[in-house]
Amino acid sequence: MTQDTKGFTLWFTGLSGSGKTTLAKELEPKLRQRGLRVERLDGDIVRESLTRDLGFSKEDRDKNIERVTFVAKLLTRNGVATLCSFISPYIERRDKSRQEIGNFVECYVECPLQVLIERDVKGLYEKALAGDIQNFTGVSDPYEPPPNAEIIVNSATQTVEESVEVILQRLEGLGYLPVDDARDGAYSEEEEEEIESRLRALGYI
Ligand code: ADX
Repeated sequence: MTQDTKGFTLWFTGLSGSGKTTLAKELEPKLRQRGLRVERLDGDIVRESLTRDLGFSKEDRDKNIERVTFVAKLLTRNGVATLCSFISPYIERRDKSRQEIGNFVECYVECPLQVLIERDVKGLYEKALAGDIQNFTGVSDPYEPPPNAEIIVNSATQTVEESVEVILQRLEGLGYLPVDDARDGAYSEEEEEEIESRLRALGYI
């Protein structure tokens, strides 16, 4: 049953192949389980429809982010947990998205370029390094890391599960996600009272 929770946008930024989409996909069912309505917007998919006319110049990347921000804003204000995965390399443009959307949580998915080149999941780094793809982020185009991201995860040093846990806890802390008692192995109110009264009887408290 979907409960009445506050909408927000969780905005993943980071280099291509850093793990933005993977994390968003992992989070999606976990957030649903906790009663949130979830929608995912992803660079590789959005660029086949809403922004299919755009390339990778600074101007086009900014337009890409401008359009998806518009969608994320509508979803967010209607109570949806909106997971956005875009390289979104420019601080200024991300900050505009933050202003426009309001309930905005920035998650920087860190990963050293060398690791990404070694992984090269989509084979794009090899092409970019060979000069077959122009303006490739991190190779021949800039990436500006966020100076004040609410969340930083590192896909070179953390497992997907660890990063997901960091994100869930932060969302709880920010009040966007109802706290999941069961996850801590915590007790119900009745159980807590029972334990307290036993400890009191034993003179421990
Ligand atoms: S953004 O810069 O406008 O935010 P977006 O996240 O939508 O980029 O798309 C990035 C994806 O497009 C990459 O993961 C990669 O698959 C593909 N891509 C193709 N060309 C480039 C390029 N020149 N720079 C970065 N990504 C590219």
